[in-house]
Formats: sequence, structure tokens, C-alpha cells
Amino acid sequence: MAFKNLLTEKKESVLVVTINRPDKLNALNDETLTELKSLFESLQNDKSINVVIITGAGQKAFVAGADIYELNKLNNISGKKFAEKGQAVFGLIENLNKPVIAAVNGFALGGGCELALSCHIRIASDNARFGQPEVNLGIIPGYGGTQRLARLINSGRAAEMILTGDMINAEEALSYGLVNRVYPAEELLKGALEIANKIASKGQIAVSMALKAINIVNELPLNDGLKLESDLFAECCGSEDFKEGTSAFLEKRKPDFKGR
Ligand code: COA
Repeated sequence: MAFKNLLTEKKESVLVVTINRPDKLNALNDETLTELKSLFESLQNDKSINVVIITGAGQKAFVAGADIYELNKLNNISGKKFAEKGQAVFGLIENLNKPVIAAVNGFALGGGCELALSCHIRIASDNARFGQPEVNLGIIPGYGGTQRLARLINSGRAAEMILTGDMINAEEALSYGLVNRVYPAEELLKGALEIANKIASKGQIAVSMALKAINIVNELPLNDGLKLESDLFAECCGSEDFKEGTSAFLEKRKPDFKGR
């Protein structure tokens, strides 16, 4: 699949997706969102990919937000469609049946921070900056930021970021739990690939079931979540990978998972 604003590079079963509009700090215009939609729809059934990494082109930005040239034209009717489209695309990423790692290599502002929030794992370079600066433009986050940020960090910290529009640096993001790890900029992609390859070497049915269970945490009461967990656990127990993983342990050898 060829894209205008996305670069894709397959490294064995890991797909590295680079948002590629460096002259606009990788701002998400409508065309880029549409391309992300096509890509993530196709990835759902792509058995050759186990893990996806998203990063931004250049040294300066992951994604500096929604495209402000396009934002400037919105009204109260088109604004609703704009937010719904971004939310739907980010929902595809969050609900993908394989893990998505955000490798945040610079500014992750507005829609860029929201894109990272829709990924399952976030890591950052030491020059990364996170922010929801929409109030500076007279709007609020519309691609899930008010909801996902408040759930991921805490509502007080999310409120401060969203109401002041101030950016936080990588170390602050680490202390907030917004990212898992911080790397020197030149080592970020290597770090992302290490995590991705480790996940890709596991039984992929188990990885996918674990994601499903973790993703539902904010939607279900504990007892319903536990019921789902036991259903998904049982499904794993019916897989060839489960027999292979347990047999390999008992036979003191490396498992050879087939994703079945
Ligand atoms: N939408 C469209 N274009 C954007 C953009 C965005 N969100 N963010 C940056 N750009 C463009 C700039 O207009 C500029 O383009 P130009 O060279 O054609 O004028 C180019 O990217 C470089 O940005 P610039 O502002 O010159 O870089 P900087 O280093 O001085 O500042 C930022 C970097 C990230 C602080 C600044 O670009 C910024 O505040 N961007 C907007 C962030 C934002 O509000 N995002 C949320 C949108 S909802």
C-alpha cells in the first residue's frame, strides 16, 4: 500500500509507520488521517505483522497536532465530523488486534499527544514534549485527549495540561506514567524495536487476547472484566500455541509459536 504522508517499513514481523510531513512537524491533516484509517484497517487481518511502531519523520516532532490550517475552517457542524473522524481512526489503533508502540521523537502536541494516547505502549526520546495546547486555539482536545489523558495519568494532572496548554518534557511524562521509558534521541527507534521484537517472539494469540482484556479495563466493572478475562484465558487454552508454550517449558527448549 503506497501513501503520500506515511512511510511504512517492515522489519520482519514489526511494521514501523512514520508520519511523514516533517516541514509541517508531521501535523495530521485530513489526508494523513484517511491514510492512517486505511492502513490500520488493513493491519487487522495482516498475519505477517505482529507489532506496529508509530513515529514521526525528522528530529523535531512526533506529531505537532491536527493541521491548524484545516482547523481554522471548521464551524460547529463540520467540527463535530472532524472530531468524530479522528476519534474513529484512533479507536482503530487502540482496538487493533496487535500491539502498537508510540515512539515519541519530539513534539507530541494536541492530536499528536492523542495519537500516542491511543497506542498501547508509549516510549519517548529525551527531547520529547507532550501537550494539549488546544485552549490556545479556543478549542478543546477532540481526538480523545480529555478522556484518555484523564484515565491514563490522573484527572488533576490532565486538567492542568488541558486547561493551561502547557507542555511537559520527557522526564515529567515518565513521572506521570504517560510514557514507560525515555531514551537518548538516537536510541529511541532501537529501543522501540527491542520491545516490539520481544513481543513479536511470544504466542500471538495470547498477545492479542491480553490486549483485548487490557483495553476493556475502562469500560467494564471489575467482575465483568474478570469474566471476560476467564473467557479469553479459556480461548488461549484451546490454541496450539498454548500446547507448544507449555510443552517447550517442560522439555526445556524454546517455544516455536505459530499463532494458531
Ligand atoms: N498544523 C499545521 N502546521 C503546523 C502545525 C500544526 N499543528 N505545527 C507546526 N506547523 C508548521 C508551522 O506552521 C511551520 O510551517 P511553515 O514553515 O510553513 O510556517 C512549520 O510547521 C514549523 O513550525 P514552527 O512553528 O516554525 O516551528 P517552531 O520550532 O518555531 O515551533 C511548535 C514548534 C510545535 C512549538 C509550534 O509549531 C506549534 O506551536 N505548533 C502548533 C501546536 C499546536 O497547537 N497543536 C495542536 C493543534 S490542535
